[in-house]
Amino acid sequence: MKNPLHSIQLLKKIVTRYPLVEIARTVLSEPRLAWAYQRRSRTVPCLPARMMIDPCNRCNLKCPLCPTGRRIPGITPVHMPFEQFEHIVNLNPRLKMIDLFNLGEPFLNKDIFRMTAYCGLRGIRTGIHTNLSAFDEEFVERIIENPPTRLHLSIDGARQETYEIYRQNGDFNRVRNNMERLSTRIREKGKGPVVEWAFLYHKHNHQDLQEAEAWARRLGFKFFARPLVVPQALIPDWHNEETSKKEPVSFKADVVCPHLWLQMTVRPNGAPAFCCFGYLDKDDLAEPLSSLSSPGQLLELWNSSVFRRARHCFDKKAVYREIPDPILCEICTNYPRTGGLDPNVHPYETPFREWINDPVDPVKK
Ligand SMILES: C[S@@+](CC[C@H](N)C(=O)[O-])C[C@H]1O[C@@H](n2cnc3c(N)ncnc32)[C@H](O)[C@@H]1O
Ligand code: SF4
Ligand code: SF4
Repeated sequence: MKNPLHSIQLLKKIVTRYPLVEIARTVLSEPRLAWAYQRRSRTVPCLPARMMIDPCNRCNLKCPLCPTGRRIPGITPVHMPFEQFEHIVNLNPRLKMIDLFNLGEPFLNKDIFRMTAYCGLRGIRTGIHTNLSAFDEEFVERIIENPPTRLHLSIDGARQETYEIYRQNGDFNRVRNNMERLSTRIREKGKGPVVEWAFLYHKHNHQDLQEAEAWARRLGFKFFARPLVVPQALIPDWHNEETSKKEPVSFKADVVCPHLWLQMTVRPNGAPAFCCFGYLDKDDLAEPLSSLSSPGQLLELWNSSVFRRARHCFDKKAVYREIPDPILCEICTNYPRTGGLDPNVHPYETPFREWINDPVDPVKK
């Protein structure tokens, strides 16, 4: 019999990366999919209840460890039009939750409120991550009228000097006004999204954590802090003993990536990708989903050879081998496992891809 401690540790690792509540929902609402995930089946029996659909990969900020912020080549800026979004949503009758963001500022897409309103009408929950600085106070009213279910505010500081170290080009005054306005109007109207202030901490801003948390509480927002994820080579620039102590445990070979079974990712041009790390044009895995006309065709695509090959990476019997032209999952350092290149010897960090070798000093002086 398997050691029960091992199973608990494995569960803890999965939960750190993937919200427990979403796994529980999948198990309850779609046991066949949960079973396929557990068994690491290459073919899935049905469409997932969760999708990530990126409405826009442009941004007003220049966060130095974000490919969009860094304006790296190989990403064509696109806004997904509402009609394409609607078509994709309608292709998946099982859909219950959409992450309406990935690698850009979602509120730069002028159709974003049509998207949240449409999902509201269809009973589909939505989550948006935003820097809250791509608009003014008037926009806040529109958020309250057509809210996503959850609004995640990426604000890494409690003053301009600390905030702009990562959120380069950001205006903390504007962010503060938008936060205050959002809180006031939600209270006055008695409706709006659940708001969470998410603070990415590093050695240059961690002194603001307590103040930000108290501030969030006063505004009626949830608060959570996470370490800024940084490529190995740049850790000394961003973390010291105090901030790196809190870094999450690294993943071991026995964890299976849930994205390939439980969530489908769509780029702003409508093309499918493996997950949020598939943000380059070359990561398009097929034609835009608007070329499909039925849920059956979408399921066929999700079981096409490239997705089956990716799921095969997690086959227990797979062994390390040199692959001449590896796909992203075969060299993924986020879920290292026995199937692709050895992540310990391969100089590749999935979130940062090849572009991190660009020698630009990331920390603003
Ligand atoms: C790429 S952003 C896009 C959405 C929006 N522009 C924003 O910043 O919230 C998606 C998420 O990645 C987070 N993020 C960006 N750089 C990060 C890093 N180096 N480490 C960890 N999370 C990061 C953001 O804070 C946000 O929660
Ligand atoms: S605000 Fe978000 S999308 Fe924009 S550069 Fe920063 S992390 Fe990237
Ligand atoms: S690239 Fe990594 S995180 Fe993304 S789907 Fe593949 S294995 Fe999962």
